[in-house]
Amino acid sequence: MRFHILTLFPEMVENGLRTSILGRACQKGILDIHAVNIRDFTLDRHGRVDDYPYGGGAGMLMQAQPIYDAYRAVASACRSKRPLRVIYTTPQGRIFDQKMARELAQEEELIFLCGHYEGVDERVLEEIVTDQVSLGDYVLTGGELPAMVMIDAISRMVPGVLKNEESGETESFGDGLLEYPQYTRPEEWRGRQVPEVLLSGDHGRVEKWRQERSLERTRLRRPDLYARYDLPGKALEYLRQDRLGHTDMIENIRRRLVRVVAASESGVLLWNPKSSVYLLTARDRDAGERLLSLTKPDGAIYCCHQRFLAESVAGRFGRETVRECCQAVYSRKTPLPEPEDVAVRPLDRTEPEGALPRHFASVHGEDPDCLIREGRLFGVCPADGDEGPVGVIGLCIDGRIGMPLVLAPYRRRGIGQALLRFGINRTLEMGWTPYAQMGADDMPSLTLAEAVGMRICREKLYWI
Ligand code: ADE
Repeated sequence: MRFHILTLFPEMVENGLRTSILGRACQKGILDIHAVNIRDFTLDRHGRVDDYPYGGGAGMLMQAQPIYDAYRAVASACRSKRPLRVIYTTPQGRIFDQKMARELAQEEELIFLCGHYEGVDERVLEEIVTDQVSLGDYVLTGGELPAMVMIDAISRMVPGVLKNEESGETESFGDGLLEYPQYTRPEEWRGRQVPEVLLSGDHGRVEKWRQERSLERTRLRRPDLYARYDLPGKALEYLRQDRLGHTDMIENIRRRLVRVVAASESGVLLWNPKSSVYLLTARDRDAGERLLSLTKPDGAIYCCHQRFLAESVAGRFGRETVRECCQAVYSRKTPLPEPEDVAVRPLDRTEPEGALPRHFASVHGEDPDCLIREGRLFGVCPADGDEGPVGVIGLCIDGRIGMPLVLAPYRRRGIGQALLRFGINRTLEMGWTPYAQMGADDMPSLTLAEAVGMRICREKLYWI
């Protein structure tokens, strides 16, 4: 990987980066550190690169011309085919972190621009800079040290730079936690013992101890990191207190359909980007309000697990229509027998469509073409029928089984049951827990769900 550093102090950068691990990587040809003296490009007879700011004010500004010409010289000689990223180190930038280091390490070449004096003429920044990055909320005398820090953090992610034993797999931030404490010989130093478990030779115990210490350290020293750590785990812990009632949310997490926006001991908020649905549950109204303040209501639908949440959504976002639903869950692992005399099969676009697929899609808020294209719609079609299916069932985009629909003349023949059993068995085959939702007053669907052995949750859901 090649780093070009546009600077007024090339020797500072080179001396700093050509030692130790990075120096070794440069010698091996894994890294190439190329410091470019901006002053070499000035057109000023006296070698000046700075001037007074228009409008007055303290200090001097770096001029656009030498920086731009230095950049052009580097960019025109670049080997990379990708558009070059030019990073300007400034306290006004996005704060640098491990994730950014990992992302930048994917580039073949990077250009760093190090500012000095009171800043840089804005026009050259607009012209060449792609990323403005800061080390933190403090001001340094120049951009060289930040560039060196960033180059160090990026370089250690480049394959071959670290030897195996230096590899950063278990280091701080790798998994979002701080690293556990480490000890080396002697076993006792100034009366302090190495923790007994590390001498035990029991790898399982050592691993457990390290994970616990990492968690404890992060919680105490970096509560901000701890709050973001393992949100799905924290969400599941809360949701499992009422496993049945939260089946939809648990399944959405398990099937990776949602992002966990927030999870704590007082509630959980999930966001399904594909269906634009927020799913939320909260211990009380205050906790619910806190969760709702994290949502963006435009175009979003809310699936609330408590009535007070629906009331809050209505009050906050001026919504009116609430659909009260029941949730039915098939909580056994065993598949259901499917009747042989009713053939259920996937529907495709080549057959006569009839009215049911579109009706099903509109009842369940789905796109009919998408349901069919993705193989999520199934039906019962009579042998002689060119009128389309007489009963349909579908697996909805948010993971629910959409309750079956059967044309009136074909009801009471076991078609609805056959369809629902089919939906349950296909869901089980994917390793998931089958669940469905129906209007709280939809007696035929509730009776059907119970008839195939689904459990109806006492708590209602409120779609708003
Ligand atoms: N230049 C001066 N201060 C800086 C900081 N905090 N981060 C990045 N560049 C800087």
